[in-house]
Amino acid sequence: MPITPTDQIWMNGELVAWDDARIHVLTHSLHYGMGVFEGIRAYETKNGPGVFRLTDHIERLFNSAKILMMEIPYSVDELIDATKATVAASGLPGCYIRPIAYYGYGEMGLNTLPCSVDVAIACWPWGAYLGDDALSKGVRMKISSWTRHDNNTMPPAAKTTGNYVNSSLAKIEALKAGYDEAIMLNPHGFISECTGENIFVRRHGRLITPPLADGALEGITQDSVMTIAGDLGFEVSLGQLTRSDLYVAEEMFVCGTAAEVSAVNSVDDRTIPCPGTMTTAIAEEYHKAVRGETDRYKDWVELAT
Ligand SMILES: Cc1ncc(COP(=O)(O)O)c(C=O)c1O
Repeated sequence: MPITPTDQIWMNGELVAWDDARIHVLTHSLHYGMGVFEGIRAYETKNGPGVFRLTDHIERLFNSAKILMMEIPYSVDELIDATKATVAASGLPGCYIRPIAYYGYGEMGLNTLPCSVDVAIACWPWGAYLGDDALSKGVRMKISSWTRHDNNTMPPAAKTTGNYVNSSLAKIEALKAGYDEAIMLNPHGFISECTGENIFVRRHGRLITPPLADGALEGITQDSVMTIAGDLGFEVSLGQLTRSDLYVAEEMFVCGTAAEVSAVNSVDDRTIPCPGTMTTAIAEEYHKAVRGETDRYKDWVELAT
């Protein structure tokens, strides 16, 4: 998806002009994939741009860094404030936000311990990741021939730049085969997640979503959806799923910051009823929650003013 530039990017403590947010070609993380990042959305609310679950995202960034033994030279609060400042400076009513922490220029080699850590936060306008009609018409999914990383290979709990080699291989394979998105199995053959979304499947009237142990990122949208589903009176739990569970699902959707709640209409050409009633109800609530329109979830929205 093409990027629409905004005026400024926060880099190492200050807002700089978009075109001046440059790095050296020998920047360490560019070579070895040892960066950590987040994808966050701010939505237009009646009180200005509201960043959805900002604190949770920044805390996950720090957890990703902890897994890599990377010391981010800022506090959680400082990066929350920096994110709000970046969104406010853009003047956009809503946007996608990309904070990234990476090993900078100055050291080369696999020992990251002596490396400096740089941090940048950019934001820009971004539409629906899986298409405008992903909720109404649903997306076509394919089980990938690529396996999700094992927990002892590339920890899926850490949102590292390097982890996304695996996701990109699967995404490209699915697109070239005429599908919209790939589903990743873990090394034991259980469903983990998509290339950038968590999966929810309805089986016997209950919603099930794979846990971190099966190779899924602990999605913030996944967590929001579980809360919303519970509040709507739906039975929902973390649980192990096989590909057959998907083929015979009563309904299925995927969710993530970028994709929001997107319905699934087929997996490996087995048709799935779409959009299902639970999917539609949850998507409606999610749509209101992110815009601060539901009192019950108002703490999820942090104003960028
Ligand atoms: C691999 C992967 N799984 C799941 C998700 C969904 O996570 P979240 O809802 O926190 O955006 C993402 C998006 O960040 C992702 O990249």
